[in-house]
Amino acid sequence: MDGNGRWAHNKHESRQYGHKIGSSKVYDVYKICTDLGCKSATFFAMSSENMQRDNDETEFISQLLVSSIEKHFLDLLENKIKFKVIGDTSSLSNDIKQLINTTEQATKNFTEFKMYIAYNYGGQWDILNAVNLALSNNDSITHDTLSNYLSTENDFPDLIVRTGGYKRLSNFMLWQAVYSELEFLDILWPDISRRDIELIFEQYTATKRNFGIVK
Ligand code: IPE
Ligand code: MG
Repeated sequence: MDGNGRWAHNKHESRQYGHKIGSSKVYDVYKICTDLGCKSATFFAMSSENMQRDNDETEFISQLLVSSIEKHFLDLLENKIKFKVIGDTSSLSNDIKQLINTTEQATKNFTEFKMYIAYNYGGQWDILNAVNLALSNNDSITHDTLSNYLSTENDFPDLIVRTGGYKRLSNFMLWQAVYSELEFLDILWPDISRRDIELIFEQYTATKRNFGIVK
């Protein structure tokens, strides 16, 4: 979800305002995705590298995470959506960790719909974390064990969409992206619309995926 800062700058507003509006779009976009047939989506809110931004900005974004979880908690339950925050949440305050844990526990048995937020997330962190988990359980490091220990639990994205104009993964799901379709949009995240998502899905549906095999 790239482009909040530039969107706000274009409107002579603060970066924080951009994050606030950007954050308010996330759940709506998830609902549009499920409307269009996608049952599982991860939103990249903060990368490991983004955490090096000013404390004011990272703190503000962590509060946005809190307010959006609180706002949508009941809706997650009503619609049977499994919610999870993936990433290194160890630096968050105990209150926030507690809220995340409560929400994850309350939704952990839902299997049909998944909404994940990647926070202080890095694909490199995810791989290292998976290796360390496997080692601590005395499991061998194979393709399958590693895939299962990733924060996404062996669920790989079919499609990765990045808004904001840059064509790079920026440390997102490096292992899981192995055969993802990639879509890069010039749209700044707060401007994303239902029509944009419909067009992306139409293009995805029309793409023949071979997974490296001659078909
Ligand atoms: C994306 O918006 C959201 C986060 C990384 C938290 P940016 O903050 O990267 O916005 P730009 O790239 O400065 O426009
Ligand atoms: Mg950016």
